[in-house]
Amino acid sequence: MARTIEIVPSVLPANFADLGAECRRLGEAGVDRIQWDVMDGNFVPNLTFGPDVIAACRSYTDVRFEAHLMVEDPDLLAKEYIEAGCDLLIVHAETSTHLHRTLDNIRSLGAHAAVALNPGTPIEAVEHVFDLVEMVLVMTVNPGFGGQAYISTMEAKVSRLRSMLDERGHDVDIEVDGGISAKTIAGAAGAGANVLISGSALFKYPTLAEGVADLRSRAEAAQQ
Ligand code: DX5
Repeated sequence: MARTIEIVPSVLPANFADLGAECRRLGEAGVDRIQWDVMDGNFVPNLTFGPDVIAACRSYTDVRFEAHLMVEDPDLLAKEYIEAGCDLLIVHAETSTHLHRTLDNIRSLGAHAAVALNPGTPIEAVEHVFDLVEMVLVMTVNPGFGGQAYISTMEAKVSRLRSMLDERGHDVDIEVDGGISAKTIAGAAGAGANVLISGSALFKYPTLAEGVADLRSRAEAAQQ
């Protein structure tokens, strides 16, 4: 049974001078969730959204917020992003010395937990926390900026991860993030990703609604 396709925008290409209205537009366009790319300028060479910015946008839409924590110390910040209105937190395996404890903490705070892997990080880095997450994010670019080229070799990683999760009976989604567009989404979904992050490609469509619908139909058509 194919997993439900979810189209989730990154807000990186959005109009930062009007983020609340942009969140409302995204909600009206039919996105399944909104991803905030949280960057601390240390784990990645870019600096983006603090919890107060996200909290200010919370009331503009009912759509779920997820925070992709591209930060050196997710334990320090998890509670603030949950209180800001994110009910799903994605932490990078590369930033947690005690990943099992970090994920447990997020769940104890009442949020959903997910873990992310940079392109060079093997699946084995997270195979012992599959029971603590509802999603694994396989990065299809090196994190830090939108508009980068899709790394197609990650499709083999997605496919192997999907097999591992299914063989072990884990009801866990696979998300991909980076370079997802009309040209690349079929490869990612065909490999087994069912949550697809799109930023620059989605915002380039004539309307957001058209983009969400086109990306969704392309992904659904590609599912095995
Ligand atoms: C990388 C960022 C981007 C962004 C989406 O750190 O996380 O992947 O969300 O980027 P594009 O514009 O490639 O969809």
